[in-house]
Amino acid sequence: MSRAPGLEKTSHLQGTNTNLDEAVKFLQEYDLEASETCLRVTSAQWAYSTNMTDLNKRRMVEAQTHRARFDKVTWARAAAFDWTKLHDGKVRRQLRMLTTNTRACLSDEKYNEIYHLISEMKDTYAHVRICPFRRSDVDESLYCDLELDPDVQRIMAQSRDNMELTHVWRQWHDKVGPQLKNKFMRYVDLANQAARVNGFSDAGEEMRYMYEDPNFENEVAESFQKLLPLYKQLLTYVRRKLLQRYGSSIIRPDGPLPAHILGNLWAQEWSNIADIVLPYPEYRDFDVSDEMLHQGFTPLRMFQMAEEFFTSIGLKPMPPEFWRHSMLERPNGRKAQCTASAWDFCNKVDFRIKQCTEVNMENLVTIHHEMAHVEYYMYYADQPYLYRDGANPGFHEGIANSITLSVLNPIHLRLVGLFNNNTELYETNINFLLIMALKKVAYAPFAYLVDQWRYQIFESGVRKMNSEWWDLRLRLQGVVPPVPRSESHFDAAAKRHIPADIPYIRYYVALLLEFQIHEAMCDAAGYNGPLHVCDVYRSREAGRLLTDVLKVGKARHWKDVLKMLTNGNSNRLSADAMLDYFEPLMAWLKDQNKNERIIGWTTYKEDTALFQPLVYGSANRHLTSHSVVIFVMIVKWIL
Ligand SMILES: *[C@@H]1O[C@H](CO)[C@@H](O)[C@H](O)[C@H]1NC(C)=O
Ligand SMILES: *[C@@H]1O[C@H](CO)[C@@H](O)[C@H](O)[C@H]1NC(C)=O
Ligand SMILES: [Zn+2]
Repeated sequence: MSRAPGLEKTSHLQGTNTNLDEAVKFLQEYDLEASETCLRVTSAQWAYSTNMTDLNKRRMVEAQTHRARFDKVTWARAAAFDWTKLHDGKVRRQLRMLTTNTRACLSDEKYNEIYHLISEMKDTYAHVRICPFRRSDVDESLYCDLELDPDVQRIMAQSRDNMELTHVWRQWHDKVGPQLKNKFMRYVDLANQAARVNGFSDAGEEMRYMYEDPNFENEVAESFQKLLPLYKQLLTYVRRKLLQRYGSSIIRPDGPLPAHILGNLWAQEWSNIADIVLPYPEYRDFDVSDEMLHQGFTPLRMFQMAEEFFTSIGLKPMPPEFWRHSMLERPNGRKAQCTASAWDFCNKVDFRIKQCTEVNMENLVTIHHEMAHVEYYMYYADQPYLYRDGANPGFHEGIANSITLSVLNPIHLRLVGLFNNNTELYETNINFLLIMALKKVAYAPFAYLVDQWRYQIFESGVRKMNSEWWDLRLRLQGVVPPVPRSESHFDAAAKRHIPADIPYIRYYVALLLEFQIHEAMCDAAGYNGPLHVCDVYRSREAGRLLTDVLKVGKARHWKDVLKMLTNGNSNRLSADAMLDYFEPLMAWLKDQNKNERIIGWTTYKEDTALFQPLVYGSANRHLTSHSVVIFVMIVKWIL
């Protein structure tokens, strides 16, 4: 079964106007109006995010509502054309973009309904509070007021107490999912209706269509298969360390990992348990935060340092508006939303970063990341509005993160005077690569599976949403819930992107691109050594290659952009660069795991029973093909 659509669809609702001049004129008007609307919404969002008053929130909602109406009108105007019959490729593509991946094709009533459903789900998610763990009945902490950020995330990152972690994990999942379930099911229904009007079989097919490539799913699946051996080695090593720490009552020596002890609420990246798994703790890790404090760094100086990185490779400095309007520190006397982000005001001059900067290494790396987004905004500013975007939905994050691969490596930190230890030591390198793997390799299956689940729900319905979620997590990620789950739960919703209607496969694509772009820039810089210590700082050649990509924005197909990036070698998304980067770690892990019976995980019925309880007397009907395989394996061992 192939879910990938061809690009030239014929079944969707479309108009009859084939007048090219009229189409060009419409697109010119659209370009102006969309840029103005974007400026208006972005300004209102900025005002609220940096100054969270009721008034500012009201204004933001007004601006967003205005945009929703604008999108509706735009869709109607664009859909009046029959773009399949227009001979100008650029016009055709822009009209196609305006009439797909939108719910504006629904009736006013349904369009409003799905719009409000999503707002309500986001609101509900934002207001979830959970109760702290009570060690005993006399415990004082009675207030159930823990927020996701920072309380819940901090406990999941720092606690090493199985009971507390289980409690917090369960509270979060139990309080988020069930109250969102009905709304989400209605949302699935409406999103599918919109997709069908647009000519797709379901909303998942429409989501994949954003990549404008019929082979997209295969390419992504192939790369995932290539990453799995590395992931399994990492998991096996981490499992042994966790076993030593927590004991065999909560983790099996050949089993999947319980989701609550990996240092992250969603078990999506594991760097918070570096203290448990770091191979050579006696070799100081590379957190240069103390050195930064020692040298008297300020937030402003950190931003200047990041800017100097970009100008050193020949990219633009931040414009005066950036320095005048950005929010670089937590403001005094007003409430602000502190998640770091980069902003494009859609008027070609105003670009900003919002960050409550603290002087530490993590923030320094984040600044480079956000500033890379701003560079992208500045370089594609002269493109039409629809092309002022990443070449595909993964490019923005891919580029931003590829810059950080240069910045956070020990060689670079040494060059800028922040790291004083020997960078050549084998132990130092393995420590570094292991920490990177906890962030990046551990993330791959999660980033891949979130939308596999969503596609499945859009395609086959909402009847078994929770067991399908855990089935994917067990099969692809090797992770199980710490406590039994049922269909009354809705655990996928514990991740905000699900209720908030934000596609997720882009993060997987970005992960691959991050390493592909890093490798390409290192090649351009004439670098030949191991990829994990390549630093493109001061390389004009690397900078030239990057600006070629940035300038294009979305104006060309991302396959062409990838081809440009790889010097004509390939236009494929690929795991090869990432595997290359981690090659020294792979060799080390294989050696560490050489006495392990199972690399990866085996699945017993006790694992699947956590989310697919077997019904007495009809057990066979409920056996998945997966558990049959395992069952056969167990029988073999007994024999
Ligand atoms: C914050 O927003 C309010 C309007 O709600 C405004 O009166 C106030 O001046 C703003 N504060 C700052 C520092 O911009
Ligand atoms: C990607 O490259 C392959 C082989 O070089 C080519 O056949 C294909 O048309 C290219 N795809 C795009 C979208 O450019
Ligand atoms: Zn980013």
